[in-house]
Amino acid sequence: MTESDFVLKGSFEYPLEGNIVWKAPSNIALVKYWGKKPNQIPANPSISFTLDACATTTSLSFKKLEQKSNFFSFDLLFEGKAKEDFKPKITTFLERIEKYVPFLKEYHFNIETSNSFPHSSGIASSASGMAALSLCLVSIEKMINPSLEEAFLKQKASFLARLGSGSACRSIEGDLIQWGEYKNITESSNLYGVKYPFDVHSVFKNYHDTILLVHKGQKTVSSTVGHDLMHNHPFAEERFKQAHINLDKLNATFKEGNLDNFIAIVESEALTLHAMMMTSLPYFILMKPNTMEIINRIWEFRKRSKTHVCFTLDAGANVHVLYPESEKKEVFQFIKDELVAFCENGHYICDRIGYGAKELKV
Ligand code: DP6
Repeated sequence: MTESDFVLKGSFEYPLEGNIVWKAPSNIALVKYWGKKPNQIPANPSISFTLDACATTTSLSFKKLEQKSNFFSFDLLFEGKAKEDFKPKITTFLERIEKYVPFLKEYHFNIETSNSFPHSSGIASSASGMAALSLCLVSIEKMINPSLEEAFLKQKASFLARLGSGSACRSIEGDLIQWGEYKNITESSNLYGVKYPFDVHSVFKNYHDTILLVHKGQKTVSSTVGHDLMHNHPFAEERFKQAHINLDKLNATFKEGNLDNFIAIVESEALTLHAMMMTSLPYFILMKPNTMEIINRIWEFRKRSKTHVCFTLDAGANVHVLYPESEKKEVFQFIKDELVAFCENGHYICDRIGYGAKELKV
């Protein structure tokens, strides 16, 4: 598929009005996307677990204007309140996708969006938010052209979501999604995420992710600034190569169900992401002292308990604690006994691997 395959072509009759609601999950990358080229093209391939509990629900109602407008006409409610400061991000997104969904200026939209997790939790909602909005828009496209197939619509939603936020393209389906050209997955693409096509050992089903909220509130470095730091970064080229190698290793690991290898790859990816930020110019340390405390305690506990708990990080201080279903009881007890004390106000979120976005009936 190329970009032009995603342009809605032909002359259609547009529906006069309607309302669509989608709930889209967040995702956590195992091999990280960090660094991009123009037009939201990733510098390296990535892979993620789709989550379940952390999600955004977006309701999009639309009403056809008497005359096509010269600008994007929309109102935005976030958690029931008008949110003017979210509007520029949505406008930029609509500008980027207009070419592919040419009906945008035919309508006035009411966008109502809410997250299952507190906005102040420091968890980025851009992946689930952009995924939910893209799915709503693609549902309108389906009303315009009912002959479009489900598989194409999912792919297009991922394609549009990527233009809003790169990692959002991995939030349409589950449970393991790969994004970015990668030699061993023929169907892989820089333009959208694909379902991981190979065998995955049953130990990875129902994997848990307990998200420890070490530091709530705004991130020190926005992802846009962060990705930019990879331009002229002294280690960038090696890092991009390493992502391919880690994907190769993960393929074997997923097949065999080798949790020790899984841990080594996932923790190394998390620390490499942070190492890239520590070695860029300007440089940043996004971990907090409590992030380090948690990591050290996970390592100690893993050694003494012989469980397979491990961590990954996004571009912030929060820690995602990953563990298999079979070790749930022991690891969760450890989290409560030893790790929750390092969370801001003791807050954490219990999540697990999920199976993708859902349309909600209105
Ligand atoms: C560290 O998808 O938030 O979470 O494309 O600029 O919106 P933009 O970036 P974004 O970057 C996510 C970075 C990451 C790693 C990952 O999810 O792969």
